Amino acid sequence: TPIRFDLNSPEVIADPYPHYARLREDAPVHHDRELDLWVLSRHDDVAAAVRDHARFSSESGGPWSDLSANPFNPSTRVPAPVAAAVERLLSPRVLLTSDPPDHTELRRKVAPAFTPRRIAAWEPRVREITEGLLGGAAARDGRIDLVRALAAPLPSMVIAEMMGVPPGRRDRFRRWSDEAVDGLLAHGSLLRTLHGTAMMSAHFAAAVRRRRRDPRDDLIGLLVAGGDEAPLSTGELVTFCVLLLVAGNETTTNLISNTVLALLENPDALEAVRADPGLAGAAVEETLRYDGPAQGLLRIAKADARFGDVTIPAGSRVLLLIASANRDPRRHPDPDAFRLDRGRADHLAFGTGVHYCIGHALARLESTVAIESLFRLGLAPRLAGRPGRLDSPVLRGLRTLPLALERVPA
Ligand code: HEM
Repeated sequence: TPIRFDLNSPEVIADPYPHYARLREDAPVHHDRELDLWVLSRHDDVAAAVRDHARFSSESGGPWSDLSANPFNPSTRVPAPVAAAVERLLSPRVLLTSDPPDHTELRRKVAPAFTPRRIAAWEPRVREITEGLLGGAAARDGRIDLVRALAAPLPSMVIAEMMGVPPGRRDRFRRWSDEAVDGLLAHGSLLRTLHGTAMMSAHFAAAVRRRRRDPRDDLIGLLVAGGDEAPLSTGELVTFCVLLLVAGNETTTNLISNTVLALLENPDALEAVRADPGLAGAAVEETLRYDGPAQGLLRIAKADARFGDVTIPAGSRVLLLIASANRDPRRHPDPDAFRLDRGRADHLAFGTGVHYCIGHALARLESTVAIESLFRLGLAPRLAGRPGRLDSPVLRGLRTLPLALERVPA
């Protein structure tokens, strides 16, 4: 009997993991007729497909062709002229949705801005911003929404500073970047996405032109300078900056919230991190495996692909469920247990192969500092209301996480 797996249903969004387990056991190569989407869920299949970029292409027709036919949100469509107007601001070559050799060339030009050393240099400033946000929150009555107080502002404040956005513009800038991911939510609006994208693009185009006249050592300055013999065009730079916000802010927000929620639901781990905040990094790493912000990656099969006795035909859209792979017992013993002592980071939460997340060091730094600071300030977080979940089958995270922060005597 064909298995039912409706990835947009409220039950799956509330807790996808039992549904993934059913897929892995009963239908590891599943065809969703309604969405005309193939779904892979076992670690070995998912990892092989992510690494096989020749057969499983990331390419889409242009920056918005994915969104205007968003397979996760089939009810929304953007009027073609609106999409076309925004598309003119952007380059058709997008790192995330290109294949080698285009991808290789783009990645080579932007990678120098993201070396582990450059990111590590931000640690003191990330700590300062985090402590400022948390200090303000704790000074009030100790009741906070962790998402609003810390998890959402931290990544957008850090990237805004990295990009040299003037302080007076940062609120607007954050609103635009929130709008830009709205279309990924199950009931989100693609028009909001396009609005945020258009406003940010105009901002970045001006910033790129200013850096060309007046070179600076911030992230945009590095990207402008980084194209060596074949510099990136203004459109390509603008597109990459938009991508950084879309790919980096919401995901990092969700990693911070998911980590705190996982700790609250696992009192032993919570106690361990409270006793030794140096375990924050291990908690973040285990959350990436256990409840990662990105649940699946979308690819197009360029040729027939055989998995066991099932063949995915060339031309199919394929959803690679990395979050299911990370719970596959064939790979991770006792996969549904949240444990701080796994000691291996062989999950697929940041992808693998040529598109491996360029922001992984930044995401890990911000999330680790956030969790560590929460405990180093001598604050004991307790759930103070129902967490509100994001309504999306691909972005796993929280809209709200109400906490009471109690001071624990030193
Ligand atoms: C790529 C996850 C944070 C920028 C990816 C991919 C994943 C991912 C799974 C691979 C996509 C694919 O193969 O199709 C995450 C998660 C994050 C995070 C879970 C936070 C916890 C960030 C941050 C930035 C960023 C902070 C930048 C500031 C990018 C970019 C790509 C990417 C530009 C495209 C790389 C390429 O195509 O070569 N991310 N990411 N991400 N990520 Fe992240």
